[in-house]
Amino acid sequence: MPVIAQPAVAVTDAVESRRPVAASVSTPVPAHVAIIMDGNGRWAASRGLPRVAGHREGAQAVRRTVESAIRNGVGWLTIYAFSSENWRRPHSEIVDLTGLLRRYLKSEIRELDKNGVRLRFIGDRQRFDPDIQADLAKAERETQGNKRLNLTIALSYGARAEIAAAARAAAAAVKAGQLDPAALVEDVFEGFLHTAGTPDPDLIIRTSGEKRLSNFLLWQAAYAELIFLDVLWPDFNDSHFTAALAEFGRRERRFGARSA
Ligand code: IPE
Ligand code: IPE
Ligand code: MG
Repeated sequence: MPVIAQPAVAVTDAVESRRPVAASVSTPVPAHVAIIMDGNGRWAASRGLPRVAGHREGAQAVRRTVESAIRNGVGWLTIYAFSSENWRRPHSEIVDLTGLLRRYLKSEIRELDKNGVRLRFIGDRQRFDPDIQADLAKAERETQGNKRLNLTIALSYGARAEIAAAARAAAAAVKAGQLDPAALVEDVFEGFLHTAGTPDPDLIIRTSGEKRLSNFLLWQAAYAELIFLDVLWPDFNDSHFTAALAEFGRRERRFGARSA
């Protein structure tokens, strides 16, 4: 599938006014964009480089994407950085990835904070070394007052594990007499997920050409628009992001109802 085309530059004032830069796409802008950042290994292999070089370059693409999200007035951005299944990779790659995460947390937080980004992490953070867990908590604490962009990074995240943990927590609440099983409706159940308080993603983008969700936000993605791009994550840039927003703007979301 080809990378979708650069959109015709367009549109108007009302929504554009919250965007600092001459904007780029038609409304409506998705409130929440989630991205499966895939293809680092293939990017490196195609250049005869070690996989870690692809992961390093992927971190640059994260920087660009955060800027694009802010520029386009996207309020929520969730990125899939490491899945619960990625622990199955060779030890050496895990060491590389956790090393990059350590460095990212040390080097980026000040800049993100300055840009009004609030950080959150979802996933099983207990599996990381204690120093990383401490840095994750610190980043969340230090950016919690920011409002420009809500950036959620999924780390050691798996949707099935998240849903199972939510079911366990709900069952415990029932057992403790704090929750009536009949009251466990969708909205209440959502309160037990890692993403409690976060709007569902309107748009999920996956790079690298793979067309699957790989255990990402399975509950939350129920009505997300999906865009799969034939671009490797380290090559992902503002024009891809903007084109995806434009494609989103052309889709009709019906949520099971009918168009007028
Ligand atoms: C995505 O790139 C990053 C992680 C999953 C950690 P990959 O490492 O999966 O790259 P490919 O898919 O092998 O090219
Ligand atoms: C999905 O990519 C996870 C992340 C991007 C963090 P993978 O490369 O792990 O997915 P599969 O194995 O191809 O499904
Ligand atoms: Mg991959």
